[in-house]
Amino acid sequence: MKVAILGAAGRMGHMLCDLVDRSEELELVAKCDVREEYPRTWPAETEAVIDFTFHEAVPANITKAAEDGVVYILGTTGLTDEEQAVVDAAAKKIPVVQSGNFSLGINLLLGLVRKASEILGVEYDCEVVEMHHRHKKDAPSGTALMLAKAAADGRGQDFDDVSVFGREGIVGERPQGEIAVHALRGGSVIGDHTVMFAGDVERVELVHKAQSREAFAAGALRAALWAADKAPGLYNMRDVLDI
Ligand SMILES: NC(=O)c1ccc[n+]([C@@H]2O[C@H](COP(=O)([O-])OP(=O)(O)OC[C@H]3O[C@@H](n4cnc5c(N)ncnc54)[C@H](O)[C@@H]3O)[C@@H](O)[C@H]2O)c1
Repeated sequence: MKVAILGAAGRMGHMLCDLVDRSEELELVAKCDVREEYPRTWPAETEAVIDFTFHEAVPANITKAAEDGVVYILGTTGLTDEEQAVVDAAAKKIPVVQSGNFSLGINLLLGLVRKASEILGVEYDCEVVEMHHRHKKDAPSGTALMLAKAAADGRGQDFDDVSVFGREGIVGERPQGEIAVHALRGGSVIGDHTVMFAGDVERVELVHKAQSREAFAAGALRAALWAADKAPGLYNMRDVLDI
């Protein structure tokens, strides 16, 4: 499969190019970036585009991909509602696999969080804490949002009704059923996530720590191969992993 990497000069881009170079099933046909020495777009022979760039770049890129009829793997996070609407429209024409986290471990954790939340219920206060390197531009992480939404799903809540992001000042007592998300930034942390269920007599913590960006890159490439024969639609990593 002939793939183009968008954001090739970035942290994820480097890892993706390296893994494609080592793959027997994938061929790297373009390393695209907005930095000067890189091409902006991919050649006609491209079969899959893998996007780890910046949210503002996504609408133009995925619209072109939809015109070209190529598979689109979307790892870029922090999309606005308007940008997401462009992704949803493109997915009517091409297979799009979008995930805030392409690692196997986090996708496993999503299922565990949903189950834990279902069993423990609102009597256990749910807090999601994430930490990333100091260069990360969006907060909270796309993964923290996915985990918090899984916790809300598990106990049948509407995420928008119960979510809060950080706390400051005289916020009063914690209401039952709230799901709070907190973002820490510092150093070179690749991605740590903790989902905490705090009850009166015990506390359950589900933790994931990414040790290499290879965890995300390998999942994104697996998604590209999986999507090759799929009908147009918006898929996620749980579809790819069949979990
Ligand atoms: N889904 C996942 O599993 C996962 C994992 C890690 C990071 N991410 C996300 O991927 C994105 C990139 O992360 P990073 O750490 O590699 O960032 P980075 O800043 O190191 O790299 C981003 C690259 O994209 C380039 N870029 C910006 N606009 C572009 C455009 N229009 N066309 C082509 N290239 C463009 C930049 O020049 C830069 O080289 C972020 O949104 C991050 O949150 C997702």
